[in-house]
Amino acid sequence: MRKPLMAGNWKMNKTIAESADLAKALKSAVSDVSAVEILICPTFTSLAAVNAEIKGTNIKLGAQNLFWENKGAFTGEISPTMLKDAGCSFVLIGHSERRQYFGETDESVNKKTKAAFAAELIPVVCVGETLEEREKNITFKVIEKQVRNGLKDLHGDCAKIVVIAYEPVWAIGTGKTASPDQAQEVHAFIRKIYDDMYKGAGEQIRILYGGSVKPDNVSTLMQQPDIDGGLVGGASLDADSFTKLAKFAK
Ligand code: PGA
Repeated sequence: MRKPLMAGNWKMNKTIAESADLAKALKSAVSDVSAVEILICPTFTSLAAVNAEIKGTNIKLGAQNLFWENKGAFTGEISPTMLKDAGCSFVLIGHSERRQYFGETDESVNKKTKAAFAAELIPVVCVGETLEEREKNITFKVIEKQVRNGLKDLHGDCAKIVVIAYEPVWAIGTGKTASPDQAQEVHAFIRKIYDDMYKGAGEQIRILYGGSVKPDNVSTLMQQPDIDGGLVGGASLDADSFTKLAKFAK
């Protein structure tokens, strides 16, 4: 059985004090949730303060990016071991905003994914097609390339615990959600490709949907057999709405 995962991607929002306040509000609101794993991913500067709030609770901490080296002359970068030290157990990798604005490629996604595992962080690897790619009918081709190249050469248990987030770029922050059928179709496809890469692991990994997930659409999305949770931007910045998402019924 795959335990659902509801992940909040706070993106470049909130000061340290604001982040700690949100974490505090969330921890009491979701303390009774055990059927869903809950993850929040604040900015780097807020990680330590949020960790202090949620340590020992049912909320896990994640970062939004990392670099693949552990230390050295890489000005401005953050290493996997630093994230572990800050209390993280997860890290987002290859979010479409990083691919679009910061030159992230499938190759860097793959290096970062392996580096995350080496530091005992669980990577949440993001894939998704742009509007142009969907209109050109190359969604499946694009997704297959991202999955095969971004997730290649994983060893042992790593292949079974990686998390993939399918986020159609045209649905992120736009209010346009993929329909449950559209999302399910791609999720099932990702699972099939992944199972072809790592025999038997396709059924074990969690595949999250992201792109304008809100309290009013979460349950129909989560009812789909291959959707195992959500990666949520906008609606994760408010304690009430993220609590509703964390309490969705599968
Ligand atoms: P959104 O963002 O929920 O605001 O659409 C999702 C994401 O980019 O992870």
